[in-house]
Amino acid sequence: MAPVMLRRVLIYSLLRFWRLRLSAPNKSFDPKQVSALNADSVDAMVAGALSAFSAAIDLNSLKVARLEHFGDRSPIALANREIGALPPAAKAEVGKRIGEAKARIKDVLELREIELTQIRDNEVLLSEKVDVSVPVDRMKRGARHPLTTLMERLSDVFIAMGYEIAEGPELELEWANFDALNFPKDHPARLMQDTFFVESPDSGVVLRTHTSPIQVRAMLERELPIYVVAPGRVFRTDELDATHTPVFHQIEGLAVDRGLTMADLRGTLNHLAHVMFGAEIDIRWRPSFFPFTEPSAEVDLRCFVCLGGSDTTECRACGGEGWIEWGGCGMVNPKVLQAVGIDPLVYSGFAFGMGIERTLMFRSGVADMRDMVEGDIRFTAAFGMEA
Ligand code: DAH
Repeated sequence: MAPVMLRRVLIYSLLRFWRLRLSAPNKSFDPKQVSALNADSVDAMVAGALSAFSAAIDLNSLKVARLEHFGDRSPIALANREIGALPPAAKAEVGKRIGEAKARIKDVLELREIELTQIRDNEVLLSEKVDVSVPVDRMKRGARHPLTTLMERLSDVFIAMGYEIAEGPELELEWANFDALNFPKDHPARLMQDTFFVESPDSGVVLRTHTSPIQVRAMLERELPIYVVAPGRVFRTDELDATHTPVFHQIEGLAVDRGLTMADLRGTLNHLAHVMFGAEIDIRWRPSFFPFTEPSAEVDLRCFVCLGGSDTTECRACGGEGWIEWGGCGMVNPKVLQAVGIDPLVYSGFAFGMGIERTLMFRSGVADMRDMVEGDIRFTAAFGMEA
């Protein structure tokens, strides 16, 4: 055989072979013998699809069932493909059967999808339900200023020890603010660069520069013995910056009784430090001078950050000192007792005064005093309603 002929015969038989494999139209083909296409099988496919759809409990499982029973590789889709291979006479009947089956499956699928979508939507609506009739609190809850709460806390420590709260005017007599407290006439604190005079410097009236004049008033007004604390606002002509403010707060303490000594003062301030800052925070004294106390001392608190440990050099809170300046104290100067008519031979007293802003700075880590002054509620709110 010529090579050309041989090739033709080969190609022809290959093609025939493939056509047979692909279920080519075949006159002798009996559709009843293609089991996938007989009525029972198709009914079973429909029944299988319908029961799978109704068993699907949500859209996700319906999707899986859809793929299995109505997807490209589902029995009904495969059966549909077989139609093409049927002899023309059989095509119509089987085509109708499969078409109806597909339509039925599709209808039920769509119905179930609507049902399950409805169920899903209802669930979403329920879970995201908002009761718009619930009354809302449109008023932002306020918070007290931390300086106020701190003054009350400090006062409470003393009230628990039997002290009373004393008060005095913010617009004070120069006499009570300076003279009665043994400030000499030429003391620099009396100058206008330190003190707010209300009218002329010789008006005799100043905005009090400290809470110590309340000591004077307490000793004039009260029966002995006297145990008082006086929180209050004071004024000095300082510029507002991170560590100064022209209006600030102090708490003054005064005890006048028979036989009081510096040991009583020390014990009282130690107790205050422990209650306010914790048992590990004690105090130290440095000798100092105030005209109204003798002897006098500055009170330092052990640094709450480094606790004054061996390696304090890095500490930012105390600058490496290990201690933080807190206030002043001392035994009431006998001259002050005399100025208010108390016999210093019978009575002795101790006094102390602390800055509230300073106390808040190291108690709550407030780095800038301006935050306490500016009235931004975000600052105050952070302290909440601390009682
Ligand atoms: N008044 C003083 C000041 O403003 C603080 C002070 C120091 C008050 C000693 C006192 C005291 O009662 O004894 O700096």
